[in-house]
Amino acid sequence: MRKQLLAAVLGFGIFAGGAMAADGEAIFKSKGCSACHKPASKSMGPSLKEIAQAYKGKEGDLVKFLKGEAKPIVDPAKFSMMKPQLSKTKALSDDELKALADFILKH
Ligand code: HEC
Repeated sequence: MRKQLLAAVLGFGIFAGGAMAADGEAIFKSKGCSACHKPASKSMGPSLKEIAQAYKGKEGDLVKFLKGEAKPIVDPAKFSMMKPQLSKTKALSDDELKALADFILKH
């Protein structure tokens, strides 16, 4: 019984958090980022969790990277794969970039 209650509370927390990140998540998916970035496991690119750890408390730096104004810090050796993707994020508004960074940092 207690376990079920805990699961319900946690489930609600995740749901509420997810709803708030709807924009960033939608942008992430619609721009094709999820093809190379999985939530917790490395695929073509580093996982969102890995990126979130590298940019913990540095949302401004993450936005700068997405604007093409800062150097990569997660896996610079593979930046040639990520670089062309920045043409998509550079075209986003500041609000959209913040939502996208928030979504990444939630992992
Ligand atoms: C073709 C595969 C691919 C796609 C698509 C892709 N990425 Fe990446 N991404 C990578 C690789 C590989 C790295 C590791 C190199 C690096 O750290 O820059 C990376 C790194 C990153 C990083 C960490 C940057 C750092 O400081 O090192 C961020 C943030 C990121 N990607 C966001 C995105 C977003 C947002 C999108 C969608 C617009 C996206 N990626 C699409 C392959 C991809």
